[in-house]
Amino acid sequence: MKRLLLTLTALALAAGGFAQDFPAANRAMLKVKAQKKYLMLPVEDNADGANIQVIGKNSLVKSLNVRLARQKTDYYVPLEINGDLTLDIDFWGENKGIEHYACWKDMPQSDDFNTQNRERFRPEFHHTPAYGWMNDPNGMFYLDGVYHLYYQWNPYGSTWENMTWGHSTSKDLVNWTAEKPVLFPDALGAIFSGSCVVDKNNTAGFGKNAIVAFYTSAGRNQVQSMAYSTDGGYTFSKYDRNPVLIGDCPDFRDPKVFWNSEAGLWNMILAAGQEMRIYSSKNLKEWEFESSFGAGYGAHGGVWECPDLMKIDNKWVLICNINPGGIFGGSATQYFVGDFDGKRFTTNQKETLWLDYGKDHYATVTFFNAPYNRRIALAWMSNWQYANQVPTNQFRSANSVPRDLGVFAVDGNYYCSAKPSSELLKMRGSAIKTPSETCEIVVDIKKDTKITLSNSRNEYVTISYDKTTSVLKFDRTHSGNCDFSPDFAAETSVKVPGGSRQLRIFIDRCSIEVFDSEGRVVMTNLVFPSEYYSKIAATGCKTTIYQLKK
Ligand code: FRU
Repeated sequence: MKRLLLTLTALALAAGGFAQDFPAANRAMLKVKAQKKYLMLPVEDNADGANIQVIGKNSLVKSLNVRLARQKTDYYVPLEINGDLTLDIDFWGENKGIEHYACWKDMPQSDDFNTQNRERFRPEFHHTPAYGWMNDPNGMFYLDGVYHLYYQWNPYGSTWENMTWGHSTSKDLVNWTAEKPVLFPDALGAIFSGSCVVDKNNTAGFGKNAIVAFYTSAGRNQVQSMAYSTDGGYTFSKYDRNPVLIGDCPDFRDPKVFWNSEAGLWNMILAAGQEMRIYSSKNLKEWEFESSFGAGYGAHGGVWECPDLMKIDNKWVLICNINPGGIFGGSATQYFVGDFDGKRFTTNQKETLWLDYGKDHYATVTFFNAPYNRRIALAWMSNWQYANQVPTNQFRSANSVPRDLGVFAVDGNYYCSAKPSSELLKMRGSAIKTPSETCEIVVDIKKDTKITLSNSRNEYVTISYDKTTSVLKFDRTHSGNCDFSPDFAAETSVKVPGGSRQLRIFIDRCSIEVFDSEGRVVMTNLVFPSEYYSKIAATGCKTTIYQLKK
């Protein structure tokens, strides 16, 4: 018997370089002999999770949560191993026969991890994480010709967990390079959403042009922390006196900081329950409360999150993401147009307005320091109703195409416009007869317009515009796979303020973004057809289809 056990241990060591024991029905301890760079953790997306305490030389290296495979492996995530480790694993939920879980037979070591994986639904010209789960865009700024985008990221699976700031850069907002992640969970908590500023005048004392990041530390409490980078945003040091702001309510997060040149100070806007709080500071470290905005304005069917506040022309636009309580259920982005004096935001707006009238547009924020004072926004292209269930595998979710925000007025009412950023025009290739997986369709509206995009499996979406009522509609109830959530099949609609003459439709495998060309409305919806929509039927309009190339 002893010999048999020894042989089994040796076999296990040969495969994954570890031996496992089971101190209790829901617990495992693994002793890992470091042989290669990574231990490849097998993940099963529908399994209950597990917490792993990674212990090296008797000290806690990190604690992470992962849905270790119980029945079958969906994909792997890499755990870096720099030396022998002990993994203390606590399996959540019901546990029967832990010793037979699939993970024990399927946890190899490897020197590389292939992130070139192209799944069918992985977009071409939208930003996606190299692997793993992504939600909100964070900390976006522009400096010396480079756009930096951080994002809420899970390095250990394609569902929401272990919030970390991932990082990507781009010179043209279309081609993105995956960089090393910058901020990892610590004793104050996971790293939730936030923003970055370029401290041109060294107001904080971290150095001229230091990049200063503000984020929510989400642990026992939600508090605001900061970190700084002196290499242009590629690596950060956390400020050693965190947190810098402690609130008085449980949902207190997503600080957006900007330089208010008129008031000559830094402002921070922050979500607190169902309101936005505004603070000011001279040195980015000490913050003074100025005012709250929210009671009696806009939609209140859920928590307010991820604010932004910016001057566009002579008006101020306050962006307010809300979940749930969005116009078509779940999460969505509302906005207010008004005035701001560095202390208080005021508005006469009566109507609830949305920055996008589709179902899959959330956590919108803008770049700090974008050239020519452009207000370039990115949104997370999903909805909290089903974001964790969309049918992709080793990555989950993309960001929207970049949009330039503006302000326009119709009948004395102000609105925020969102136009496709001009960088997208550079992707246009030759005109093609039928839609491809990644294309742009320009629709010149003549009469009542209806466009049907379909495939040979009788899956289709329809986009229609009524010239008399100015109502734009998007129906995805027959778009393909809608089964993963009862909230997915839907029709979205909006009356275009001032009407529409032309639409620009961007298709990228699993997303369709319909813009009024002037940006008066946008509608972003995901689709998961079993084959791409290769046919188009259009009435009441002229359509031109362009191949899109990065
Ligand atoms: C919005 C949000 C933020 C939070 C982050 C956590 O989608 O809930 O409020 O900071 O996601 O990942």
